[in-house]
Amino acid sequence: MDGRDLVRSVKAVSSGGAVQGLRTVRAAWRRRRTDATGLPRRGAERARVPGLVQSAEPGPGGGVVRFARTELRITVAVNGAVFWGWDGAEPEPSYALAGRCPEPDPRAVLEPDKDGGWRVVAERVTVVVSRHGAIEVRTPGGVTLRRDLPPRWWEPAEGGAARWMQRSEVAADARFFGLGGRAAGPRLRDGTYRLWNTDPGRPFGPGDDPLYITMPVQMVVADAGTHLTFLDTSWDGTVTLREGEEGAGSGHDRAGTSEMRMDGGPLRCWVMVGAPARVLLVWASLTGAPAVPPAWALGHHHARWGFGSEQEVRRIVAGYQEHGLPLDAVHLDIDHYDAHRVFTVDRERFPKLPLLAEELGRQGVRLVSIVDPAVRAEPGDPVFDSGSAEDAFVRDASGRVVEGVVWPGEVVYPDFTHARVRRWWGRFLEERRAQGFAGLWLDMNEPVSFTAFGEKTLPRSARHALEGRGGDHREAHNVYALCMARAGYEGLRNLTPEERPFLFSRSGWVGMQRYGGTWSGDVATGWPGLRASLSLVLGLGLCGVPYSGPDVGGFDGSPSPELYLRWFQLASYLPLFRTHASIRAGRREPWEFGDDVLGHARVALAERRRLLPYFVTLAHLARRTGAPYVRPLWWGAPEDRALRDCEDAFLLGDSLLVAPVLDPGAERRTVLLPRGRWYDTATEEAHQGPGPVVVDVSKARIPVFARAGAVLPVRGEDGGLELEVWAPARGRSGGGLVVPDPGDGWDEPEAERYVTRWKGRRVVVRRDGGEGRTEPVYPVRVRGLGRG
Ligand code: GLC
Repeated sequence: MDGRDLVRSVKAVSSGGAVQGLRTVRAAWRRRRTDATGLPRRGAERARVPGLVQSAEPGPGGGVVRFARTELRITVAVNGAVFWGWDGAEPEPSYALAGRCPEPDPRAVLEPDKDGGWRVVAERVTVVVSRHGAIEVRTPGGVTLRRDLPPRWWEPAEGGAARWMQRSEVAADARFFGLGGRAAGPRLRDGTYRLWNTDPGRPFGPGDDPLYITMPVQMVVADAGTHLTFLDTSWDGTVTLREGEEGAGSGHDRAGTSEMRMDGGPLRCWVMVGAPARVLLVWASLTGAPAVPPAWALGHHHARWGFGSEQEVRRIVAGYQEHGLPLDAVHLDIDHYDAHRVFTVDRERFPKLPLLAEELGRQGVRLVSIVDPAVRAEPGDPVFDSGSAEDAFVRDASGRVVEGVVWPGEVVYPDFTHARVRRWWGRFLEERRAQGFAGLWLDMNEPVSFTAFGEKTLPRSARHALEGRGGDHREAHNVYALCMARAGYEGLRNLTPEERPFLFSRSGWVGMQRYGGTWSGDVATGWPGLRASLSLVLGLGLCGVPYSGPDVGGFDGSPSPELYLRWFQLASYLPLFRTHASIRAGRREPWEFGDDVLGHARVALAERRRLLPYFVTLAHLARRTGAPYVRPLWWGAPEDRALRDCEDAFLLGDSLLVAPVLDPGAERRTVLLPRGRWYDTATEEAHQGPGPVVVDVSKARIPVFARAGAVLPVRGEDGGLELEVWAPARGRSGGGLVVPDPGDGWDEPEAERYVTRWKGRRVVVRRDGGEGRTEPVYPVRVRGLGRG
């Protein structure tokens, strides 16, 4: 223990209660001891590079290139994605893939290239391997999108996992996005980003990294094209990014670089090339279609750590009603548990939860339950006893069950990387259902253990089943939450097969969208936190996770009325729209911030409800196409450099552009419009893009623009579906898709396509169907007529 550890221990003991403090000190020591004996020692290491090419062997979709000291397998899959793996790495097994690895594309073959290299030519991409093992990804036109230099391994002389490093170059003008949920994005600037899911342990802002969800996934956008790379390994590591610089005039370009250093795991990579929409389509076909939340989960959620009683929940719900504020779900945090134990209820404060759930259900409000993975380590606790009998908990290298510390005190952790354990755990969800809960909020699943010093998670040497392969926490850590989300999703589906499960999870990994969404976690109250919460949603969307949103108002402290309102307005256009805060924070109900804020919040809630059919459509389209609801402005125009650098606005689907207010005291703001005509939805004034426009921002709203020609489904005053049509520019046409809400079951209704155009002096809308064009069955309202 060094001096810093000592200071941390003293702090830990003096904060959060002496008993819990002492526990965290003990837990930290335990963790350190466990790893001291359980981890292989890193002795001398030998460095290795591929060496010179020796031979090549064509195979389905590509082939194998042999080097002096390794081999490289390249396969182009039928969905257009390219896989390569070094040292015999294959695409499977992988926690990221949705099912089996896609079949190879028989048209792609390995053939000799110049200078002793080899290449694979596929429909959308050419991959060129140099004789030293550098790999270039080129467009069909021959422009290089990415160049991976020959990798380098460091192998322990005594055997064990090799560390490796992969350095890549991209165009000088390229921008990096993704890497999971990053607070300082969405454009990832120069710096080192860690790949290790982490609870920062306090409310975070843009300077905090890593956070709860990290992913070795990069979306790279350059003039020459867009590509996504995924280095499929769940081990700890870092990615160091450096944007390039273009030589002005006669100077040379400096390439952008990405350097990935990993502590172990296979060196294998997937690459997808094409327009952003195409890249995400392929990505979703590889890693899984996003789960579609039920329509109620696209409404407004109110949470609170510390409702404290059923009466308080009733009071809040009544408050929403009295103030004329729509509400769709209430989330119960750990304070409704008995002594914070998972799958229990504090019967004194929440004596009749099923009744409460029923009562709220009649008012259209669902109950959602927080569920943490850790189980109180105490004989007599039914989950602990049952899990012990089932051998469900993570053990260390010596075979002892690993103990940590979370809210209930000393705890143990189910090994979710084991199918049997997932099934066992899933059966406890019956208890949640019996209490009347309609959905799950999975938390603390990085997984967290409160330790006074060192990392706040399990020992790295802790053993995991890893689906029967066996391994340790170094490999399992980043997929722990993904596997917990899977257990939750499959558990709910088994309990109520006729309903689509609803869950969202604080931590996760590549592929988590198959089971549900996520939220920002404990974002710090303050204007930087507001910005960070948008960055997370955009970044996660580009990694294939389309459903997320922040804690409105931030997790801690008390936002000013203005900050609260701006957060509320932003979140009302994000997929998960939830107010939530810490037990130590101020109130977050819209009526707690004065009449002005209340009035404007009511408008935001009403607009959210009006747009519900649009959100339902976006949720279904995300499932079918992988396209996130919330998209960066460059989505349809990645070649537009100004849009690439614009981080303070976003597209909501194809039809809307939302320009939140992210600064205090703003009276006007600049909005960068993509190409085409855009209507300010408040004034119906038309603006022409591409380019900036300056708009007034009153407290009453954040600017939202509609694309000319957009047809979007909205909720009419009678609750029925209506089509809102924004007049196309003269001589132009437009259109949009509508997926009617199929209810909470599994139906996947056909997307209805509508087209709109000018006919004489009128804008007409037709359904574009198999039998030609027909009148829409829904009422139509055309807007933006006669302006601009
Ligand atoms: C974590 C969660 C937060 C929750 C709290 C208590 O900090 O991120 O949302 O309220 O735990 O359960």
